[in-house]
Parts: sequence; structure tokens; C-alpha cells
Amino acid sequence: AEEIFESWPLAGKRALVTAGPTFEPIDPVRGITNRSSGRQGYAIAGALAKLGARVTLVSGPVSLPTPAGVERIDVETAREMLAAAKAALPADVGVFVAAVADWRVDEVFGSKLKKDKGGPPALTFVENPDILATLAATGPNRPKLVVGFAAETDDVEAHARAKLARKGCDWIIANDVTEPGVMGGTENAVLLIAKDHTERWERASKDDVAQAIAQRIAEALKA
Ligand code: CTP
Ligand code: CA
Repeated sequence: AEEIFESWPLAGKRALVTAGPTFEPIDPVRGITNRSSGRQGYAIAGALAKLGARVTLVSGPVSLPTPAGVERIDVETAREMLAAAKAALPADVGVFVAAVADWRVDEVFGSKLKKDKGGPPALTFVENPDILATLAATGPNRPKLVVGFAAETDDVEAHARAKLARKGCDWIIANDVTEPGVMGGTENAVLLIAKDHTERWERASKDDVAQAIAQRIAEALKA
């Protein structure tokens, strides 16, 4: 019985994971997105499920299979992602891996923009809601453990620590996207930034990083 318990350290726990890019439409055929592959978020969702958690994965458009044992909800825009993430609560842990588009065009055109209508369109943008900050805000539904991600290109630790405070989360997993092969690739070199310490993890496959994160989450929820 002891052995069974140890292989399911997240049995009875609920996890919410956001992953992938968002897609923000401009007109019926065009939109704004980014290069996130969704791999790291999908790997984390799969790793949490393997440890016994009930996982809801809210995913932007990616071309990846749904990990075994994971309930997947597909969305396109940041606002849809926020609504789906809220609907997945309550959860014991929230892991916000999605590369949410920071801005959307303020007015989506109802028909396709044409070249012959007076030159390039003057698009104006508005900021998208911050899904992580919204769900990390104190309230009865706040997950016990809120984990954000940060992709940074310089001063990784300082920027990530500032983000931890600004967003009110418990951990930030930070990666240096200038490292070759990280953005859109299969490996990751991460720092775990907690309120009171920083851990520098060795470069590893996104699957191994995901397993390590899932293990740490299991330990934190047990404590
Ligand atoms: N995030 C989110 N909703 C947003 C923007 C970001 O949930 N609208 C989450 C991401 O999923 C990630 C964390 O916030 O877990 C950090 O995202 P990042 O893009 O690094 O932070 P921003 O606050 O958008 O700052 P910037 O892009 O200017 O560095
Ligand atoms: Ca951003």
C-alpha cells in the first residue's frame, strides 16, 4: 500500500495548466500569435497526470497530442483562455505556461482587409487580461500553489523575481530564451524562483524539466 501511495503523490489533487500561444484575430483570415510550441506546458500537464493529479489543460492552438489522462480545453484568444481557466477552478495547483499574446487589436474587422482600400491598415492595440495575475489574486478560488513562467532574454533572475512579485505567484520558472534551441525546441535551462530562494537547474529535455517540476509540486502540496 505504501508503494502505491508513493507512485501517486498527487492522487486526489486537481491541477490547471495553460499552454501554447494564443491567437488574436485581426480579420476573418489573419491574426497575431507567437512561436510557442506548447511542448513545455503539455509535458507538465502529462507529468502531473502521471503523478495522479486530475489535470485540466487549457491550450492555445498547437499541433501536439493530448497527454494521457489529461482533460484538454482548446481556446484561441487570451480572453477565451482566461474564461476557460477560471471555469477549471477550484484547483490545488495552477501552472501558467502559456505564451499569452500581450496585446490584441482593439477592433476585429468583420471582413477580410483588402490591399486596394487605401494602403496598409492602421491597427491599434489594447492589452490582454493577465491570466496568471488574475488567478493568483487572493480569493476563495486561488490555487494553493500558483506557478508562473517567464521567458527572458537578459537579466533573467532579476526580471523573473520582479515578475514573481508583480503577479503575486508562489514560484516563477524562468528560462533564458537566448539559449540556442529553447524557444520552440526540445530542451530547457530553467531557474526556479521562489519567494525566499533561487534554484538553478541543469539544462535538460522539456520532459525531464516537466517531471522535476511535477515532483516539486507534489512535495509542496504535501508539506
Ligand atoms: N501570462 C498570463 N497572461 C498574460 C501574460 C502572461 O497568464 N496576459 C503569464 C504567462 O503564462 C507566464 C507569466 O504570465 O506564466 C509571465 O509571462 P511573460 O510574458 O513573461 O510576462 P509579462 O507580464 O507579459 O511581461 P513581458 O512579456 O512584458 O516580459
Ligand atoms: Ca508577455
